[in-house]
Amino acid sequence: MSARAGSRRKNTSMLEAKTRQELRECTRAWRLNGQRIALVPTMGNLHAGHLALVKAARDQADRVVSSIYVNPTQFGEGEDIESYPRTLEADRTALAQAGCDLLFAPDVHTVYPFGFENAVMLGAAPDLASMLEGRFRPGHYDGVVTVVARLFNLVKPDVAVFGEKDYQQLLIIRRMVEDLGYDIHIHAVPTVRENSGLALSSRNSYLNSEQLERAQCLQAVLRETAERAAQAGVDLSLLENMAEIQLKKHKLGVDYVAIRRARDLAVPGNNDQDLRLLAAVRCGNTRLIDNLKINRACNNGG
Ligand code: PAJ
Repeated sequence: MSARAGSRRKNTSMLEAKTRQELRECTRAWRLNGQRIALVPTMGNLHAGHLALVKAARDQADRVVSSIYVNPTQFGEGEDIESYPRTLEADRTALAQAGCDLLFAPDVHTVYPFGFENAVMLGAAPDLASMLEGRFRPGHYDGVVTVVARLFNLVKPDVAVFGEKDYQQLLIIRRMVEDLGYDIHIHAVPTVRENSGLALSSRNSYLNSEQLERAQCLQAVLRETAERAAQAGVDLSLLENMAEIQLKKHKLGVDYVAIRRARDLAVPGNNDQDLRLLAAVRCGNTRLIDNLKINRACNNGG
């Protein structure tokens, strides 16, 4: 169904915009009234994790804009953008119920007027983007910062909300904001999980029941590893190796399991206390990522 700027959909008060012009019309009055705007960028196929971001955004600002856009520039070769799940009708209902004020669902020409092949591309900060996910998905974070910068330029939010589920992405966006001088506060929301501990992800729908059981081991292994890593004096690289062995025992292909400094993903030194355990595994054809906070300060009296 096509959307008209400023129109209110039946049974909800959520506005919808597809074009730059519609977006401007929707947000103009809010800005004139001095209302603060929060943006929640997504690629759709929304689950409770995304909706937690929308709810957090409501506490951060007067108005919440959620974008749904499956961004071609962040998909690499062999990553099939066509098969990314698209569920706009259900997403629209979920966003309206979660209290979103405006759904921005642009098409490719709105985001990339000259085509994404001819787009001015940004580069993600190499020190953060070349490791971990960046090693397995070359160019991915360049695509992410390119589209997020475009969304920031179009929506002009005061606050933007991102999930800790994609921890490296979160750090890369924080860096982009600081480096390029955007006057936007980045608010992070903790990962929403199933009862089993599995982090909610659009990709979980690709898993059959046997794969789902294996996928649930990821969280168990990470939790145990994070608990051990919090103890003073432990050998962190030994813990990484042990976690990798455990994951492989559960027939999960391991891309990486890494304990890094939380603030910049550097290899931690002895005095670093705020750490993050990050992992990516393959379960069948599905790639899953997760991460956990490690706080050594609580355990070594420091
Ligand atoms: P997408 O994978 O749709 O995720 C949108 C936002 O939801 C991201 O900030 C992500 O970290 C957050 N999220 C996903 N699963 C979550 C969970 N279980 N708990 C909490 N937050 C969760 O990330 C992207 O889209 C894209 O790269 C995007 C930033 C939109 C740029 O295209």
